[in-house]
Amino acid sequence: MPGPGLDLLGPEELAQLTDVLASGHLSRYGPDDATFPAKVRRFEELVAAESGTRFALAVNSGTSALFLAITALGIGPGDEVIVPGFTFVATISSIVYARARPVLAEVDETFNLDPADVEARITARTRAIVAVHMLGNPARLDEIKAVAARHGIPLIEDAAQAFGAEYRGRWVGGQGTAGIYSFNEFKTITCGDGGMLVTDDEALYRRAFAMHDQGHSPNRSGIEVGNRPFLGLNLRMTELQGAVLLAQVARLDQIRTHLRANRDLVQSIVGEVPGLCFRQQPDPDGDLATHLVVIFPDAASAAAVSSELGSITLAASGWHVYNHMEHVLSGRTVTGRGCPFDCSCTDDRPANYVAGMLPATDALLERSMSFSIGVQDPNLAPFGLQMRDGADVARARAEQFRAIAARVLLGGGQ
Ligand SMILES: Cc1ncc(COP(=O)(O)O)c(C=O)c1O
Repeated sequence: MPGPGLDLLGPEELAQLTDVLASGHLSRYGPDDATFPAKVRRFEELVAAESGTRFALAVNSGTSALFLAITALGIGPGDEVIVPGFTFVATISSIVYARARPVLAEVDETFNLDPADVEARITARTRAIVAVHMLGNPARLDEIKAVAARHGIPLIEDAAQAFGAEYRGRWVGGQGTAGIYSFNEFKTITCGDGGMLVTDDEALYRRAFAMHDQGHSPNRSGIEVGNRPFLGLNLRMTELQGAVLLAQVARLDQIRTHLRANRDLVQSIVGEVPGLCFRQQPDPDGDLATHLVVIFPDAASAAAVSSELGSITLAASGWHVYNHMEHVLSGRTVTGRGCPFDCSCTDDRPANYVAGMLPATDALLERSMSFSIGVQDPNLAPFGLQMRDGADVARARAEQFRAIAARVLLGGGQ
């Protein structure tokens, strides 16, 4: 079972789905009366309240939410957007399909954007910074926000992997110009596939809404032919997805509490091995605790321990490292022409993405491994725990890790 929400699917999700089927309305639009349960609207209202934002827009994926955030900000050909080189490819592809150029930046020991490197990469063309809260750990939001503010650049938070994580007592995702969440099966809560955009900016919300619904105004109740500001694409969430998410979101406190208890137990055991350390946490109380990222003294020991555990280093994560994104490295889009890679209105220097272009990120990922606490992903963190594992399993896996790491690092046993 990939993520914590998926591991907990149960009768509550079924009851929510039955409710929708019984109503006979599967689309987010239904009659304005008690026969329509309005699951998507209710889920949006709930997430807006929890994330502390004025607006929330449910869509069919986190990728769509990112694409909407970027396009609703007016970003397009000729523009640059700064993103970390350690992220899921969707953070990059959503910029590319908005026809803007992604500028890859280094991560630091938070495994999120290094604020100093972001600032060094700002040019006259930079139109946004996308801070990704990777593996449930909040990025250095204070510093990144300060960089964005100094240069008057919007900050988009990609909180796809951090639904329910907090920074300084507030949900991540709700602290930038716009933020996004994903509800695919690897995420905190899931409906199979789904996403959400949150923002305080009403104009941005209205543009994103129109884009996600053939140009219509928020929560249209009629047909607005003649009044639509621009063309949209159908990226809507269905009532079936909204229903599952309403049941799932009610499990959030249980998920966070359980994951954090298992993380603390695992960390206390693994932390006994001299020479190991953990990723930096800008707000330790806000970490979602889906992953415990361990940093080894060198790449060789990280590779040896990972392989003995049947796991991989973060450098070997095919999903998340720019070095393995062959379509990014060679600038391949579906049409193979036009902006942003082959584009007269973009920088006349050719786009140049090469493996090894982020040496600090590469060196860090090579000596790191994630011990899964609640998201098992064969391409990221094959070793560790799942949501339903209790303290006994957590202790056993942590002791297994400790014994192997101690032998590799100290040449002894424990
Ligand atoms: C950091 C990050 N951003 C964006 C996405 C895209 O989300 P989705 O799969 O819902 O399109 C993901 C999904 O894995 C992700 O991990």
